[in-house]
Amino acid sequence: MTITSEEQLEALKAIGKVCAEARDKAAAALKPGITTAELDAIVRGVLDAHGARSAPEITYGFPGASCISVNEVIAHGIPGDRVIRDGDLVNIDVSAELNGVFADTGASFVVGEADPRLVALVRDGKRAMWAGIRAVKSGAALADIGDAIGVFAKKHRYTLVDNLASHGVGESLHDEPGEIPTWPDKSERRKMHDGLVFTIEPFLSLGGRHAIDAGLDDGFTLHVEPSAPTVQFEHTVVATRHGALVITA
Ligand code: CO
Ligand code: CO
Repeated sequence: MTITSEEQLEALKAIGKVCAEARDKAAAALKPGITTAELDAIVRGVLDAHGARSAPEITYGFPGASCISVNEVIAHGIPGDRVIRDGDLVNIDVSAELNGVFADTGASFVVGEADPRLVALVRDGKRAMWAGIRAVKSGAALADIGDAIGVFAKKHRYTLVDNLASHGVGESLHDEPGEIPTWPDKSERRKMHDGLVFTIEPFLSLGGRHAIDAGLDDGFTLHVEPSAPTVQFEHTVVATRHGALVITA
């Protein structure tokens, strides 16, 4: 989606705020003993309260309001009876639609007493996302985003998952201009134009490089190869002449 009117921007901000509220309310409830279905119910409660609809549910028939991914599951985890334990790495990804406009956000957390390496990974996953966001500016190359994230990851000795891309969003969950790499990619030659709406969602890992089907026959759950702790932080942004306008903060 490309923002061309104030009304469009207001509609995008409205659903961005709902997604952020749902993400933050579920995150605030994260503690040992809670199930991923209970976390998802919190997300659904926020969406319902605003008249918003879960994007993965209406777009892909995803069996849940949000994707909740724990430890070895790095993305598209299906909420269910899995119980959160002390030290777990949990990702909550919320995307939703309101009045025909979509936004998408996600964040990773470590629960309770955690391995210091995981605490650092979560901190740095957020920093990697911001390195990408700071590269946003209308007229700049889309590849600048993946390059900036790549510099950050290399400097701090992390790996990036190189087959789960960012994407256009707005009129649909996965909108024009399609996939946007969050890793260095020489084949990416496009530019960001003014008003372009898209996500920035790098997957930073302690060794993982490719998302793979988890083999659960559910069509959604993803693991990573080589297997390693992996985090994702995601915001929906709009490219402007002054940089990124972050919609899901
Ligand atoms: Co997302
Ligand atoms: Co996304």
